[in-house]
Amino acid sequence: MTLSPGLPRLGVNIDHVATVRNARGGLLPDPVRAAELAIAAGADGITAHLREDRRHIRDEDIARLMAAITKPLNFEMAVTDEMVAIALQTKPHAACLVPEKRSERTTEGGLDVVGGYGVVQPAAERLRQAGIRVSLFIEPDPAALSAAVEMGAPVVELHTGAWCEAVMQGHGEEAQHHFNRLKEAAILGAKHGLEIHVGHGLDYATAEVISELPAVMELNIGHFLIGESIFCGLEHAIAEMRAAILRGYARRAG
Ligand code: PXP
Repeated sequence: MTLSPGLPRLGVNIDHVATVRNARGGLLPDPVRAAELAIAAGADGITAHLREDRRHIRDEDIARLMAAITKPLNFEMAVTDEMVAIALQTKPHAACLVPEKRSERTTEGGLDVVGGYGVVQPAAERLRQAGIRVSLFIEPDPAALSAAVEMGAPVVELHTGAWCEAVMQGHGEEAQHHFNRLKEAAILGAKHGLEIHVGHGLDYATAEVISELPAVMELNIGHFLIGESIFCGLEHAIAEMRAAILRGYARRAG
């Protein structure tokens, strides 16, 4: 079982800095500046999702991020020929494969690695051969974990969105149900040698709770941090998030 040897890493997703920039056109606020600030404030990596419709991050942002940042880039991408080609050319540290629908506001569910095995596996293999660490964004589901293991993916990112939403709505029983699924999936995945990441919808409170799970090695967080930074600045929001992760992590042993 792969247990986290240390504090889970914090990956900061800067997509929504680009969302604000694009609302006006022009160049500001610059997501690359946000990435640099995030790293200076303690982010262990930067995540950016180049969507098919380029609604936030654009191709040139990815190129500029690769040139500017001093921590790993996690390139979030749909499983399409276009995105695989861009990833192969860009060679980010990691690629997180996600499902993508044009009509969705954000990534709504995990990647269908069972039904879509025949499409996901060859794409993951091409990325792996190029030395890119592949992560599959999946639901906390045993069948999805088995498919990820069969594919030889080194990493899965468990979709925390349903749990976070239930917590936010105050639906205690439903939240507990989703959390139990995440906990079981994290244990099962780690038992099979998968590195466990989590992401989607996390805030200070949910990040703290999920950091208690011993298998969790990385949290990827965007929307909440960028939102918080409007009120307290990105550095402060990241410092608070790291403190929340540390509090959860400190409870692992006890
Ligand atoms: N991880 C993945 C795979 C995602 O698709 C997203 C959303 O882009 C995130 C993490 C970050 O989610 P949020 O912006 O809700 O923190």
